[in-house]
Amino acid sequence: MTSFEHAVQLTNITVKQNDMVTIDSVTLTINKGNFAAIIGPNGAGKTTLVKVILGLIRPDSGTVKVFDRPSDELGELRSKIGYVPQIFSIDIKFPVTVFETVLMGTYGKLGVGKRVTSAEREATYQAMEKVGITDLKDRPIARLSGGQRQRAFIARALANNPDLLVLDEPTTGVDIATTGNLYALLRQLKSEGVTVLLVSHDVGVVASYIDTLACLNVSLVAHCRPGEVECTDALKSMYGCDVAFLHHGDAPHIVVEEHE
Ligand SMILES: Nc1ncnc2c1ncn2[C@@H]1O[C@H](COP(=O)(O)OP(=O)(O)OP(=O)(O)O)[C@@H](O)[C@H]1O
Ligand SMILES: [Mg+2]
Repeated sequence: MTSFEHAVQLTNITVKQNDMVTIDSVTLTINKGNFAAIIGPNGAGKTTLVKVILGLIRPDSGTVKVFDRPSDELGELRSKIGYVPQIFSIDIKFPVTVFETVLMGTYGKLGVGKRVTSAEREATYQAMEKVGITDLKDRPIARLSGGQRQRAFIARALANNPDLLVLDEPTTGVDIATTGNLYALLRQLKSEGVTVLLVSHDVGVVASYIDTLACLNVSLVAHCRPGEVECTDALKSMYGCDVAFLHHGDAPHIVVEEHE
């Protein structure tokens, strides 16, 4: 595993897109081994912030460090970030099978132009096994259900044994059983030392798993531990409705109260 203290350090990040500020002065640190979640309403800038972390969007100002290194000096370490993109951003017409899609996750380690060996094939089978899609390995990705496709992209992100796993709303279109399996898998990865960054609208579910919650609405409304007063207040102001944390043992759950 890569040696580092902070998986992600964002300092004063501002992003403008089409003359609109979509991220405003965000400072956020995610420590090694933490399970962090980002929540916020549609258009809050969650995907934009994820792309800044991945080096896909260059901020207009501020600094980005991943694994304690400036993001543009990551080199081969970039392949130790696993990324599951938000589902509608994926081109599903691409004519590849599930196996080939997951195998692509090993290319960072392999380098461009090198031959695939049994090690990469083995890593691909292990990743497919983890998310339960081995039986779909020869299916074209375009001929999967939404949930099956999502699992294929999660397997792709796992194939290179990432130190940082970033998932952008991975449970969209995924059934309850698979969602439960995914969260169990994320907890398992965390116990193995993987840092997990999850963008999710499942606030009620993730609250019981996560170490820190970043509430984003263009700027950072709060960065807190689920259950803290600061967190509850931030959620209330962000979603405009009453939310409460219920405690089951040590595990806080968020409850969004319905309007009359
Ligand atoms: N390529 C782009 N060019 C211009 N503006 C963009 C672009 N991508 C996103 N935006 C704008 O930036 C803002 C943040 O978008 P972003 O996709 O980061 O939101 P989000 O929090 O991920 O939303 P959602 O919950 O719907 O996924 C939105 O106002 C969006 O319209
Ligand atoms: Mg998004």
